[in-house]
Amino acid sequence: MESLKEKIDVQRLPSHIAIIMDGNGRWAQEKGQDRLYGHYHGVESVRDIVEGCAELGVGYLTLYAFSTENWDRPEYEVTGLMELLVETIRKEVETLNRNNIRLRVIGDMEMLPDYAKTELKEALEMTATNTGLNLVMALSYSSRWELTDAIKKIAGDVKAGKLEPDSIDQGTLPQYLSTHGFPDPELMIRTSGEYRISNFLLYQLAYAELYFTNVRWPDFRRANLYEAILDYQGRERRFGKTSAQVKPEALTKFSL
Ligand code: IPE
Ligand code: IPE
Ligand code: MG
Repeated sequence: MESLKEKIDVQRLPSHIAIIMDGNGRWAQEKGQDRLYGHYHGVESVRDIVEGCAELGVGYLTLYAFSTENWDRPEYEVTGLMELLVETIRKEVETLNRNNIRLRVIGDMEMLPDYAKTELKEALEMTATNTGLNLVMALSYSSRWELTDAIKKIAGDVKAGKLEPDSIDQGTLPQYLSTHGFPDPELMIRTSGEYRISNFLLYQLAYAELYFTNVRWPDFRRANLYEAILDYQGRERRFGKTSAQVKPEALTKFSL
């Protein structure tokens, strides 16, 4: 594992890693256990990956923990997940502070039960001045919710005379998204062998490198993260240009 880590070029880390933490339920069921057992074990992976990212010096880590669509799961699973969330935040806040990690949340907070809202608000305040890793929890989040919400706010600002429709450009919409101020994810990882985006950061992922692994989330640890980062670092990101234009030699030549 150490050697994998040493292969990472820390000068070229993705500034923002986003993860769809998937496969908890199947991981548990394959062991003859209840789905909640998988969610509990998923927390250990969260801890390990958060620590791994903080140690490497990654700026932003977004974890998709609960989608808007997940509210439609059986009630016992939804309640179990909410309780796990609150309990985990309560336990981990101290560790976040010790590691200079700032907690952020994106999603429709109005949907959360009051006790979860209170706990989250407290944790956000308690870590607000930390300057290391930004740990962004996507909770009750979906891109379609976020985009609808942004459009409502834009329309409101236009109506109130705060925003001129003619002044709207590509920089406007990002300011109304819940990820306002965060860089776009450069690497998006999904575990458990599913090849979908599931309503996650549809706008922000426009140019992210996508990495899919069959590993179920409760088995995903630092070594798996290092593999994903190394894979990312081996890719050529062209942003619409040609390969010749983005080669490091070409960049030096043009800048001379
Ligand atoms: C991801 O694991 C966690 C959440 C969506 C909350 P799942 O619960 O989706 O696990 P699978 O995909 O059913 O195995
Ligand atoms: C996506 O996982 C949401 C989270 C990881 C929180 P799901 O397991 O809910 O996604 P689908 O429904 O299989 O696409
Ligand atoms: Mg799933």
